[in-house]
Amino acid sequence: MGYLSQLKPQELKNKVCLLRLDFNTEDNWRLDAGLPTLKFLAKNCKAVVILSHKGRPEGFDRSLSLKPITKILRKALGKTVTFVPHFRFLEIRELVHASPRGAVFLLENLRFLEEEADNNEILAEHLASIGNIYVNDAFAVSHRANASVVAITKYIKSYAGFGLESEIKNLSRVMTAPKQPLAVILGGLKIEDKMQVIDNLKDRTVSFLVGGALTSEILDQLKSPKIILPVDFKKDDGEIKDIGRKTANFFQKEIAKAQTIIWNGPVGDINKNKFSHGTKAVAQAVVKNKKAFKVVGGGETVMFLKKLKLDKKINFISTGGGAMLDFLAGKVLPGIKALENHD
Ligand code: 3PG
Repeated sequence: MGYLSQLKPQELKNKVCLLRLDFNTEDNWRLDAGLPTLKFLAKNCKAVVILSHKGRPEGFDRSLSLKPITKILRKALGKTVTFVPHFRFLEIRELVHASPRGAVFLLENLRFLEEEADNNEILAEHLASIGNIYVNDAFAVSHRANASVVAITKYIKSYAGFGLESEIKNLSRVMTAPKQPLAVILGGLKIEDKMQVIDNLKDRTVSFLVGGALTSEILDQLKSPKIILPVDFKKDDGEIKDIGRKTANFFQKEIAKAQTIIWNGPVGDINKNKFSHGTKAVAQAVVKNKKAFKVVGGGETVMFLKKLKLDKKINFISTGGGAMLDFLAGKVLPGIKALENHD
């Protein structure tokens, strides 16, 4: 696979770079993760054209326009960012190539075009025609075979950006050669995906600490002595909303023993303060374990850590939700495979 980190700045001098980022979060933490790549390209390329998506629109939807992101990018880069509200590719190509050195453009939400989710070759070819090289720094959408993630790599020299490279290295590290004991904490939704993670990591993991919506489902379907389920709960109207105090204490002790920790998903309903004690206890135990190599992912979990101002104490924060789970489940992500197949 070609990595952007292997290119010399001089090699980018006359290139228009298409950069795929993922802006699909409520706040802009994924955007922050893409900034080192964006800044490097904006400094060294002739021009940068950002490709991204938000939500799952069916056709044009003003509420999912990427226009508001222009201002945030402008502030982060300290330079003008031109928003392109249409998909007239010939016109875009001319605009970009006629721009002054270092210009940055942001294209409208590509999912306004149904061809994006269909991994359509014609759209991919049109996108590729705008630039000279393509960089994927959108790990979070690399589990989707979308035109701007997969098909595009057939038509243009393609590389993994700094963020994607770091995701691949850090997630591979905890999956293939984790320092033992490895503790995997799983909560939140996406139950099927998390079951596949358990299945793939069960030989390498000492304990799976399981909470959130996973609990009852897993009780029935997976029977492994390594899976540690809650022994007490906080309930609301008969519904499980959080792990109880005894469970939190037990989880904390298990977390303290680990040398490697992977965490995806809150163990309770963190939208309500009264049901976020369990997740808070887990977060505190994770950061308290200074000896462990810690990897955390999943939108809700990352936002919660940020709220507690504990995110900086994690060795690696994955930008992936579903993408992180697919990677940990041992699946080959289409966006990564496309870069590997690329010569
Ligand atoms: C995500 O937020 O997980 C990615 O941006 C992919 O979004 P999707 O699940 O709508 O394809």
